Amino acid sequence: VSKPTVPGPTDRQDAVSRRGLLSLATASATGLALGGCTQQAESSLSAEVSAPFGQRVPAYGPSQAGIDRPPIPQSQLELGVFDLADGVSPGAALAKLGEAVSDVVSGRSARLAGTEPGDLTITIGVGPRLVAAVNPTLPGAAQLPRFARERIAASNRDGDVMVQVCGSDPLAVSLTSGALADAVHAAGGAERWSQGGFRRYGSDGYALNLLGFRDGIVQPAPSELAAELWLDDAPQQVAGATIAVVRRLRIDLVSFLGMPLTDQESAIGRHRATGCPLSGGSVTTLLDLGAKTQEGGYVVPATAHARRADPGVTGVGVMLRRGYNYVNGPEDQGLLFIAFHRELRTFTETQYQLDASDALMEHTLATASATFLVLPGFGPDTPLGSHLFA
Ligand code: HEM
Repeated sequence: VSKPTVPGPTDRQDAVSRRGLLSLATASATGLALGGCTQQAESSLSAEVSAPFGQRVPAYGPSQAGIDRPPIPQSQLELGVFDLADGVSPGAALAKLGEAVSDVVSGRSARLAGTEPGDLTITIGVGPRLVAAVNPTLPGAAQLPRFARERIAASNRDGDVMVQVCGSDPLAVSLTSGALADAVHAAGGAERWSQGGFRRYGSDGYALNLLGFRDGIVQPAPSELAAELWLDDAPQQVAGATIAVVRRLRIDLVSFLGMPLTDQESAIGRHRATGCPLSGGSVTTLLDLGAKTQEGGYVVPATAHARRADPGVTGVGVMLRRGYNYVNGPEDQGLLFIAFHRELRTFTETQYQLDASDALMEHTLATASATFLVLPGFGPDTPLGSHLFA
């Protein structure tokens, strides 16, 4: 059994460099112009990047698509959370959903007639109620606790089934989320809450959030995925699965963006225009958490978000963050935070650190919250959910 490890300072430096280099290499492969930290943002994306709808992403495999593949998350998202009615067999319902996923992604779905699936991915998870009914000691059986700064209606908390649809074509994503919602309804499910979102990439290949900051810079390196992301074969029922946390975080944009730029950067711990750490170096340089100003204060302030969330501070592993910006109107905009990790405590311990003191979190309010066991991959002879609900 491989255990998540907390990398030491040197490993972390290497890991961050590898992570950053990975992102830049992938950005280059997709035709994005690369920019150094001293360079100003470029105005237009290349023709290659705007080529519609991307390469197909196979639905089948040892793990589901939409987590670490494609390596650069698609720009559009629709995420739905559903409940299964009492008496519905989860195994039968999930097998039907798996068929719907395969139909859509391979271009066989009538709902998508006349459109190309492109790089659509559909990722299905099951909530703690269903996992605990199989075995309460399994990963994914634990509910998320309550945290600070939450105003969450009962209908926007938890849920039995997550359907995450991502793609480059907003129309295909919309049609697909409708097709999957129909499949869930036909299988005995009812919608609980849903949220659409989008990602916008800068010319350097990094995603920008609604605050204008580069987001998702520090991620697990490919070599760390086995230790940080995937559940292994103990127990066999969850091999190839991972744990997702989904939280809709409204951001008070007026209060955050009303601050002087230097205060915004202090709240994050990185420069807004480049993503470079306040402690210096390039965007892929590890934050120097010990660096001091001439006055003796921390260069990366004690309450900076990137410091508070740093695995060196939290003592837990590196999560794969794959969130999307959302805009539900002028009063409700923010981040649909989505993270994947093999242990729920990677999220909970980090969130507790942010709750205790974080200059960014002061501008946020959670309005939806759930965790799911993202099921192992599936194939023509191995229906979705069959490992767990045999
Ligand atoms: C509105 C909410 C949030 C926004 C706008 C936001 C934004 C950012 C930004 C701009 C960075 C620095 C660049 C990067 O490494 O990606 C960052 C880092 C990070 N955030 Fe968040 N974040 C939010 C919520 C959260 C939450 C809820 C968690 C987890 C509980 C989290 C975990 C992390 C982690 C682990 C890092 C990397 C820290 C490091 O090792 O340097 N973030 N976030």
